[in-house]
Amino acid sequence: MAGRREKYGQSIRGYRIAGAIAIGVLLGCVFAFLYPSGFFSPQTRPLSKSNLQVDSSNCESTEKVNMMKSENRRLSEKNAELQKQVRELNQKLQVAEQGNGRAQEQQLVVSSQPQKAGPFGTVKSLRTNPPVLPDESVNPRLAKLLSEIAVNKEVIVALANSNVKSMLEVWFNSIKKVGIPNYLVVALDDTIVDFCKENDVPVYKRDPDENVDFIGKSGGNHAVSGLKFRILREFLQLGYGVLLSDVDIVYLQNPFDHLYRDSDVESMSDGHNNMTAYGYNDVFDEPSMGWARYAHTMRIWVYNSGFFYIRPTIPSIELLDRVADRLTKQPNSWDQAVFNEELAFPSHPGYIGLYASRRTMDIYQFMNSKVLFKTVRKDANLKKLKPVIVHVNYHPDKFPRMKAVVEYYVNGKQDALDAFPDGSV
Ligand SMILES: *[C@@H]1O[C@H](CO)[C@@H](O)[C@H](O)[C@H]1NC(C)=O
Repeated sequence: MAGRREKYGQSIRGYRIAGAIAIGVLLGCVFAFLYPSGFFSPQTRPLSKSNLQVDSSNCESTEKVNMMKSENRRLSEKNAELQKQVRELNQKLQVAEQGNGRAQEQQLVVSSQPQKAGPFGTVKSLRTNPPVLPDESVNPRLAKLLSEIAVNKEVIVALANSNVKSMLEVWFNSIKKVGIPNYLVVALDDTIVDFCKENDVPVYKRDPDENVDFIGKSGGNHAVSGLKFRILREFLQLGYGVLLSDVDIVYLQNPFDHLYRDSDVESMSDGHNNMTAYGYNDVFDEPSMGWARYAHTMRIWVYNSGFFYIRPTIPSIELLDRVADRLTKQPNSWDQAVFNEELAFPSHPGYIGLYASRRTMDIYQFMNSKVLFKTVRKDANLKKLKPVIVHVNYHPDKFPRMKAVVEYYVNGKQDALDAFPDGSV
């Protein structure tokens, strides 16, 4: 015990010396001097067992420095090794790119920042693609017009020529009644330009373009429908989200309040119930195959290319280009079929599919006339719901049915829909 006291006294002296000489030395060392009993515990480092001298703390620092130096050497070696691996991988990548066109597509994936996958059930793929950088130079006149009309960079767009003048009137009157400000008629002839101006309807006529104008003036229903894919491109390039609308549509609420905006294309469906609109497993039966007679197929009723919301993204513009290109090269094709094929078919040998995200609109909010006349008007609950729009796409007597829809949903005439057959006769 006496020895202990003696050493205790020595340590106080050592502390004073250390305080005088080693101000600014690591705080941890100073603490060691403050608790001298610690130096006699079994865990104490060998160096501390010697007489407490200022030197001892210096030795300890030196030891730490040495340890850090060796740690540093180790990390440098590891770093060099990793750099070597990166070099090797880059070389492999370059070789792959040179030998193979597909490697360029791969590189997009390789160069995007890798992420760890989160826990089970939390991972979500990219579905909302980034918008393109607006390019006003593609059409300064349209850019100026849209900057005045659009709301939140969104606009309803309809193409019209004189053949659809009466329906156009019901169309824009329903839009005005709801109070939707952001809509635009793309006039395909001068009669429609004048008609819109008379009625205070925002109108745009494209600069003359022989190919387009010929179809626009004289084209039938399907030919005009094909035109829109060319015309829409500029709207997207200018950075606008477009709700493309045929004119055989009655607006009952503002559709912009009912969009999800999470997909490149958000479209109304030609489906007439949940299954047909949202997709189902349709089992095909081939009895001669015996045990394997049932073949499962994925089915969905087509999207209606007369009413869809399209975001200004690269996949959206690629879709428009693909459809327009095919409609030109295959003159007898139907734009709605082409539109759906491009959206639906996956890549396969000799073909690269379109990587666009898509969403089917609610069939009771964005209602086609089959849903209305076959189901909704006969269902006590469904007939109380007010759709956002009704598209008279399934019936050739469009004009009287459009007016009946207005009577029923806007003017509250309960029997306005009753006179019409489910289908056409
Ligand atoms: C149809 O789908 C909607 C939305 O998912 C759902 O609320 C409704 O119950 C479904 N109706 C039927 C008859 O399955």
